[in-house]
Amino acid sequence: MARTTISSLTKMKADGEKIASVTAYDSSFARVFADCGMDFMLIGDSLGMTLQGEDSTVPVSVADVAYHTRGVRKGAPEAFVMADMPFMSYSTVEDACLNAAELMRAGANMVKLEGGDWLLDTIKALQQRGVPVCAHLGLLPQSVNVLGGYKVQGREQGQAESTVRQALALEEAGAQMLVLECVPTELAKLITEKLHIPTIGIGAGPYTDGQILVMHDMLGITSDYMPKFVKNYMQDAGDIQTAMRNYIAEVKSGEFPQPEHCFA
Ligand code: KIV
Ligand code: NA
Repeated sequence: MARTTISSLTKMKADGEKIASVTAYDSSFARVFADCGMDFMLIGDSLGMTLQGEDSTVPVSVADVAYHTRGVRKGAPEAFVMADMPFMSYSTVEDACLNAAELMRAGANMVKLEGGDWLLDTIKALQQRGVPVCAHLGLLPQSVNVLGGYKVQGREQGQAESTVRQALALEEAGAQMLVLECVPTELAKLITEKLHIPTIGIGAGPYTDGQILVMHDMLGITSDYMPKFVKNYMQDAGDIQTAMRNYIAEVKSGEFPQPEHCFA
């Protein structure tokens, strides 16, 4: 099979083929997920919670993400791999370039940053310097202390309009993918229709070009609070490979997510 690239992922959007993705943090799981046919993997700063036992992504460092990116890259040498830029690692354009370089050298094909308007210059600079960027709108977990909790974003008219406008601006600035987290289904649908770059949803309904979940959530390892948008794929599967293959098949067919996983 041809190698996954940002071009092939963009073509999947154009062709109407759904993109299936998941977080991965180490070489063993990365190998399994790649063998199952996952379209791409994210070394998410969710590793603060899933691996480090923190209660937010705020304590995660660039060195942490780089360490896990190297593992994922070794386990899945051919995979398309995206790495999160952690909290405060892109607060200036210069910091963003230096820290993105670290993640690219560790094996990332793309970096992801959370935010809208304030990131336009940063995204332009990264893209011009050879770093592909995935933007991230909706619920921004790195801003949990500003938001006052993990809540659905874009429910009011003004906020929804602002999110659409920012999505268009991010694409214009050079973002080549967009993650939409915890936004109403109709808002994610509208943004997906307006953009040429693929949108990847988590708690954003069935109309985004792809879906992403945190691996620990879908394998039923997360024991405390389980968000509404998660489906436990281990429940009906005897092993991790079957769980992952079922997830991919349900994303491709549109069977996941169901209305119970979405925000109206
Ligand atoms: O860190 C993460 O796992 C993420 C996904 C939930 C999109 O950013
Ligand atoms: Na993240």
